Amino acid sequence: MTQHSFVRFIFTTCTFLCSIAVTATESNTETQYLQGKEKSVVCMTCHGVDGISTIDTYPNLQGQKQAYFVAALKAYKLRQRNDGLAILMHAQADVLSEQDMLDIAYYFNRVKSKSTNDNN
Ligand code: HEC
Repeated sequence: MTQHSFVRFIFTTCTFLCSIAVTATESNTETQYLQGKEKSVVCMTCHGVDGISTIDTYPNLQGQKQAYFVAALKAYKLRQRNDGLAILMHAQADVLSEQDMLDIAYYFNRVKSKSTNDNN
């Protein structure tokens, strides 16, 4: 193998491996979005399918930062958040694993509202 063809071989191999990595990452994020959506069905009853709640005293979750979201859920689980309506979240957080929290947080971070008529 000449030096030139060796360089080309390395280049082709790297390009190939990179394209696999990108594809894998894309499908992982798509999978996490769908898994998060599936795990969020109960949450949607209060926070809305798209994370925009219809009840004034219930917070919106759409676009929420993933790390903040997970930290909030852990705080409910550990009863560090007890004020006001926090009691409604205790039982919700209790049944979630760390992976559930990450998946659900991912979903609400990414979800968009379908309607284009409002100003959200
Ligand atoms: C019975 C209604 C109800 C359900 C079901 C529910 N929530 Fe909540 N959620 C609330 C209310 C009310 C609050 C505000 C509580 C407070 O004052 O701390 C809240 C707060 C939160 C917060 C904190 C928001 C912030 O800005 O600090 C997160 C995150 C959250 N909910 C996620 C979830 C997830 C995930 C689920 C499903 C596993 C879920 N909720 C199910 C009513 C609900």
